[in-house]
Amino acid sequence: MVAEYKTLDGVAVAGRRVLLRADLNVPVHGGRVTDLTRLERLSPSITELARKGARVVVLSHFGRPGGKPVSDMSLRPIAEALALILQQPVGFASDCVGPEAESAVAALGDGDVVVLENTRFHPGEEANDPRFASALAKLGDLYVNDAFSVAHRAHASTEAVGHLLPAYAGRLMEAELNALNAALGSPRRPVAAIVGGSKVSTKLDLLTNLITKVDLLVIGGAMANTFLGAQGIDVGKSLEEPSLHETARRIVISAGKQGCRILLPIDLVVSRILAPNAPTQVVPVHEIPADTMALDLGPATTEAIIAVLREQKTVIWNGPVGAFETPPFNTATIRLAQAIAAATESGMTSVAGGGDTVAALHEADAIDRLTYVSTAGGAFLEWMEGKTLPGVSVLRKT
Ligand code: 3PG
Repeated sequence: MVAEYKTLDGVAVAGRRVLLRADLNVPVHGGRVTDLTRLERLSPSITELARKGARVVVLSHFGRPGGKPVSDMSLRPIAEALALILQQPVGFASDCVGPEAESAVAALGDGDVVVLENTRFHPGEEANDPRFASALAKLGDLYVNDAFSVAHRAHASTEAVGHLLPAYAGRLMEAELNALNAALGSPRRPVAAIVGGSKVSTKLDLLTNLITKVDLLVIGGAMANTFLGAQGIDVGKSLEEPSLHETARRIVISAGKQGCRILLPIDLVVSRILAPNAPTQVVPVHEIPADTMALDLGPATTEAIIAVLREQKTVIWNGPVGAFETPPFNTATIRLAQAIAAATESGMTSVAGGGDTVAALHEADAIDRLTYVSTAGGAFLEWMEGKTLPGVSVLRKT
């Protein structure tokens, strides 16, 4: 799949200005970066380019400042954190276009790195404005996009600029594309998807696409309640979307026609309240007490999922299968994360993405045991939905 995209392999970069679109949109509290994952995953591209003598000009957005400068959305503290990760000095320019940026870039020597200020301080960024893209393109001889996690946005620094300079996928972008292809493009079969989360309405496109791609679809989280409700099961006070019963039935019928098996809960952990350490009860799905709500998969369901996972060659996972933030309703999600990690160690390919899923993998101590964990949230979801990502399309070989 990645053969369809231009990568950094064999690209002569020595002495050239490389405009590198990164995603430095990292969690920051009190001016400090609290999760370095995205910076760590970005570092191989920058290090490789710098080692080869490129003059690296890093572009990124941070937050949603709405097209004007917002002081606490400056990339300056993130540039400092990046320098520590890269173990080399990283310069900073307080604008990403214009004289400030131009002189910072002109001052670069071979192997130097500079971060330019937040692209979203300019309205032209989100408007994908060609004039703003030209101002960015002036700063580079070639363009490298290493920001898969923002590739679902058609913004000037992710899309338009890619038409103005020779454009390549960075190493992180390449890794993300390879992993997603291994999961949904041409996976080793059988392939299963596990989808959790609370609402069918937010994951309709996802489910509709997945049933055409996978052999098995496991549905967990409150989303499953809507599917159970669609079968006439009384889900008590559980979160569900009765208006989507008909849609859920259609998805099940369509999945059947396409040879995709859907696995729904057979038992559930229910409680009267959603609160830490609330009293719980395990019940078969047909016996949910009227005054309770389903908050996690039951043990029989969890073990049934784990048993079928062992038969899969590939698994893709997005979304916790219970009210994961509130223990003990994280039990099935953690157990599943550990089982996916163990199956990966026995040869299964596993790919996961999305903020909550990554948090669950951390909590289960399984984050380093999957084949690939995406740095992307929204972009990962849109890819799973089968959508074209503008920041990826622009890197296609023509
Ligand atoms: C992300 O963190 O998911 C990306 O940086 C995209 O951010 P956005 O949703 O503000 O475009």
